[in-house]
Amino acid sequence: MSEREQIRKRAQILREQIEKHNYHYHVLDDPLITDSEFDKLLRELIAIEEKYPELKTADSPTQRVGGKPLASFDTAIHKIPMLGLDNAFTKDELFDFDRRVRWGLNQESIDYVAELKIDGLAVSLQYENGVFVRGATRGDGYQGEDITQNLKTIPAVPLRLSKPLTIEVRGEVYMPRQAFIRLNEEREKKSLPPFANPRNAAAGSVRQLDPAVAAARPLSIFIYALGANSLEEVNTHLEALTLLKELNFKVNPHYRLCCGINEVWEYCRSWLEGKRFDLDYEIDGLVVKVNSFSGQQRLGVTGRSPRWAIAFKFPAEEAVTEVQKVEVNVGRTGALTPVAHLRPVRLAGSIIKRVSLHNEDFLKEKDVLIGDKVVIHKAGDIIPEVVRVLKDERQGNEIKFEMPTSCPACNAAVRRLPGEAAWRCLNPRCPAQAVERIVHFASRKAMDIEGLGPAVAEQLFKAGLVSDVADLYFLELDPLLKLERIATKSATNLLQAIEKSKSNPLHRLLYGLGIRFVGEKAARLLAEHFGSLEKLISANQKSLTAVEEIGPKIAASIVSFFRLDGSRQVLKKLKKAGVNLKQERRQKSSQPLIGKTFVLTGTLEQFSRQEAKKIIEEKGGRVTGSVSRRTDYLVVGQNPGKKLEEAHKLEVSILTESELLALLDRS
Ligand code: IVH
Repeated sequence: MSEREQIRKRAQILREQIEKHNYHYHVLDDPLITDSEFDKLLRELIAIEEKYPELKTADSPTQRVGGKPLASFDTAIHKIPMLGLDNAFTKDELFDFDRRVRWGLNQESIDYVAELKIDGLAVSLQYENGVFVRGATRGDGYQGEDITQNLKTIPAVPLRLSKPLTIEVRGEVYMPRQAFIRLNEEREKKSLPPFANPRNAAAGSVRQLDPAVAAARPLSIFIYALGANSLEEVNTHLEALTLLKELNFKVNPHYRLCCGINEVWEYCRSWLEGKRFDLDYEIDGLVVKVNSFSGQQRLGVTGRSPRWAIAFKFPAEEAVTEVQKVEVNVGRTGALTPVAHLRPVRLAGSIIKRVSLHNEDFLKEKDVLIGDKVVIHKAGDIIPEVVRVLKDERQGNEIKFEMPTSCPACNAAVRRLPGEAAWRCLNPRCPAQAVERIVHFASRKAMDIEGLGPAVAEQLFKAGLVSDVADLYFLELDPLLKLERIATKSATNLLQAIEKSKSNPLHRLLYGLGIRFVGEKAARLLAEHFGSLEKLISANQKSLTAVEEIGPKIAASIVSFFRLDGSRQVLKKLKKAGVNLKQERRQKSSQPLIGKTFVLTGTLEQFSRQEAKKIIEEKGGRVTGSVSRRTDYLVVGQNPGKKLEEAHKLEVSILTESELLALLDRS
């Protein structure tokens, strides 16, 4: 054997060993060797592949570390649509489902498989001859996003199967609870916003354009079904699960074959009693599936969900706790927000200590007293909200909370302006507002200064180092080091992040200044229209409202902002510091749609979807499969699908085909 051949063989052996140990560790949860032994094998393989790049293979474990960042995800079409599930919330609804199935199959009793409904993100994985080649999100069920690179970084995704099959499988990517808590702790230390729950964290991670970021996130996956290219020898869901395990997939162990709906109900009930909190991942119910594939086929699908399966959902979670005190926060616009401090309770996977009471009217409507027992839930499963007060449990010593008549931060008088729900502190020098303004200025969508969260902002302000946002650019290392809990490294990083922000485009600065009614979008429009801060400052009501989408309210707010002495001072300092005050003019013709995300629905008449996609992309836009808050436009053809509804809900702008053409033309 030539030396070269020997090295190739060695690489092959290393790959097999590494994947075997990876499988034992991440799928079976039963490691055979120590972490350092594992690292040694991996390092040896990396060294070989670095020296002989031609020996790299697609299924090499070294491919897991995360490649180059992407500009955007490709669209991935699902050969078989990825369906959703109907829900049953009660025993009755579950039994109704069984009645429909029995009627449809004309059988007295049905064999079902009941399994856990993992609360994560649905994905599809494609294998060719046993090698993982493509992975995609569910998207709208028909097309998702190609997230192959990110899925490769998940150690429980096998890069090569134990048999050379060409199959598609489906599963749920999730973040284990412990890992989620640790990740949020780390983020908090770095002043990054924490994720609301493990599902959001998982979804955010697999949708990262930079696979190195995804690789650093502790994700796992359970595979629960075969997709396209099903196999002849598999006739039941139970057999499918067995096969999936044999192929080295991670299959959730808590599935059960149930003969008849009564056994299904027993199993569901056993999970209702809190056992689920012992799991290291979140579930939001159980999925009940007809076991026989021929039965599944005969039942078919309705609209977007199969008739042969149902999700038995756990009741929406509520928790009872006590209002210990009510404090008032002063926001950056001076609005006073009452916040209830609660006895900490666990709710849908996180510990809740505070909940916003919004404003005086909300307080009155809910009639919340200090000392009250309250029921809280998570609105949209994310933000905790007070649902109601348990008035029967009042002891008589509860205390009414009155909105303060002066600002809790600066003592200035507060006012409730006509037509507003909020009381406001109108003192432009209010310290609480100043801190909030700094936090907003540094936030991700504004100047994006990493490491400058609420805690640091308050410290800088209290120490007198920063009294407005422009002072950030005059910070020096020594005084920073005198602050508590700020080490040399974080101080240096902070200064670097501040320095870097100087070259941001004008629209970020404009948004960061926190001018009332000037959100991200208005900031961008204004920056692009005027091109420089100087021109914007000298604009008047008339020239401002001439900008598309800028109305009189925004215009008036801008004019009065730039009239304020305080604002002028800040701008002068920003200029002196060398902060960029210009916006690159949009290059007409070339890529005017940069940063814009489009979704297409329905049949287009003047071009095919592929052509439409190509034109949009040529102009710098992005086309994705499903409507989300990040979508800028939905292009609607004939017979639009559900996306239109979704777009209306999320208030996404809707374009007809000719409006799209006009937009392309204009730009
Ligand atoms: S089966 C046609 N099984 O729940 C059946 N789904 O709305 C398709 N999910 O998006 C799904 N755990 O991501 C199935 N054991 C499980 C599941 C599961 C979680 C998710 C899935 C889907 C959603 C259903």
